[in-house]
Amino acid sequence: MPVEILQTHKLLASCEAALAERFTVHKLHEAADREALLAEVKDRVRAIAGGSVGADLMDKLPGLEIIANFGVGYDSIDTAAAKARNIRVTNTPDVLNDAMAEIAIGLMVALARRIPQSDQFVRQGKWTRGNFPLQAELNGRTVGILGLGRIGKEIAIRAQAMKMRVVYHGRKQQADVPYQYYGNLVDMARDVDWLVVIAPGGKSTEGIVSREVLEALGPEGYLVNMARGTLVDEAALVEMLVGGGLAGAALDVFEKEPHVPEALFALDNVVLSPHQGSATHQTRNKMGALVVANLEAHFAGAPLPSAVV
Ligand code: 8YV
Repeated sequence: MPVEILQTHKLLASCEAALAERFTVHKLHEAADREALLAEVKDRVRAIAGGSVGADLMDKLPGLEIIANFGVGYDSIDTAAAKARNIRVTNTPDVLNDAMAEIAIGLMVALARRIPQSDQFVRQGKWTRGNFPLQAELNGRTVGILGLGRIGKEIAIRAQAMKMRVVYHGRKQQADVPYQYYGNLVDMARDVDWLVVIAPGGKSTEGIVSREVLEALGPEGYLVNMARGTLVDEAALVEMLVGGGLAGAALDVFEKEPHVPEALFALDNVVLSPHQGSATHQTRNKMGALVVANLEAHFAGAPLPSAVV
């Protein structure tokens, strides 16, 4: 009999197909009555594929052994509760580093050079009436990376290729890293032209990019958020973008996705992206394969390729 697993949200089609080949999959997100489905399968489900797993859901599944998250960020899973219940948790690191770093730089160039607006300028026939206004460049500027992890390091490499100076802030200084370290985020924000947020989400980083940090970044400074909306004081960010307290922002993530503060829609100094960091065929296929590989390894009694708990 195949192992029975619970899927908590829609996954990439190829990942869903691979799971269905190996397991009996119960789709919680498609259930008309979620509680009825859980009551029916609770004693048979041994794994979850997907995120959004709190202690309450774990408690409803006494046979749960592993949660395989589709994504590197696992802030939607209560890992402390999982650990306390001896439930393993896996994520999908590394395979998305390049895609994330590419779009981070892409959004920065798009913001500095106003690429979305210049495209509209041509399409709307405005070019025949005059030239597009002059814009800013990245080269020669300093970028501060908040969270110099695996993705942050790929962004740093590409920022250097853009001839930017790279500095960083994180919980601690890293050995063998050629970039200047700031122990204090406000100090770093004050010194940089661009602040790129790429630290993990969750309680420990909630609101870390506070109004004070944004004020230190100041009217000449640009914010780029590739991490989670929860890291940034979004109300302060919007207020400052509207009032000229910041030069601009490139945002791939928001506090209440897919809802984006409408005040941003009218702003020229903002580039908005619908959580596209890892959203390429190449990368999402690798992420899906890693979800499956973690589950297969677990049920084969083999070491997990990418365990976080
Ligand atoms: C999402 C991400 O998981 O990896 C992460 O942490 O934020 C993304 O790759 C993606 O939305 C998956 O659906």
